[in-house]
Amino acid sequence: MKKIDWRPQMELSYPPLDDEHKRFLHVVNVAQEIAEKGFLNEMDAIYEKCYEYARTHFPNEEDVMERISFPDLESHIKSHQKFISNISELRQSFHHTNDDAIRQKIALQTANFLSTWFLGHILGRDKVYKPYLVRLRNLPPRMNYDS
Ligand SMILES: [Fe+2]
Ligand SMILES: [Fe+2]
Repeated sequence: MKKIDWRPQMELSYPPLDDEHKRFLHVVNVAQEIAEKGFLNEMDAIYEKCYEYARTHFPNEEDVMERISFPDLESHIKSHQKFISNISELRQSFHHTNDDAIRQKIALQTANFLSTWFLGHILGRDKVYKPYLVRLRNLPPRMNYDS
């Protein structure tokens, strides 16, 4: 798959979350490069970065969505959980074999999954809570994500 460029439509206009999305997009693009070039030893670092994204960004985003009373929070949380289980499955099958041809295939599958997931999730799901972010302004300072 082609390298994904950051587009204005991806912007939530909320820097803390936009920055996390941008950093993860970099991981997605690096994964694509690594998989295409067959640098299989570097795949573990990619899986680790995916978990790191899930450990930090997902709770941050869910926390914001809760504060702004985003009505579709539960199904959004489910889609985050689905990402974690997809990545775990891919990582497991990557480690399940020593056959480099198979590992190469799984690396490509992983990279394509990440690209597809990124586009689908950012443009299809994260975008949906964007209009609710104006509510952050009305919360007391202590409730604001930035403080
Ligand atoms: Fe999300
Ligand atoms: Fe997100």
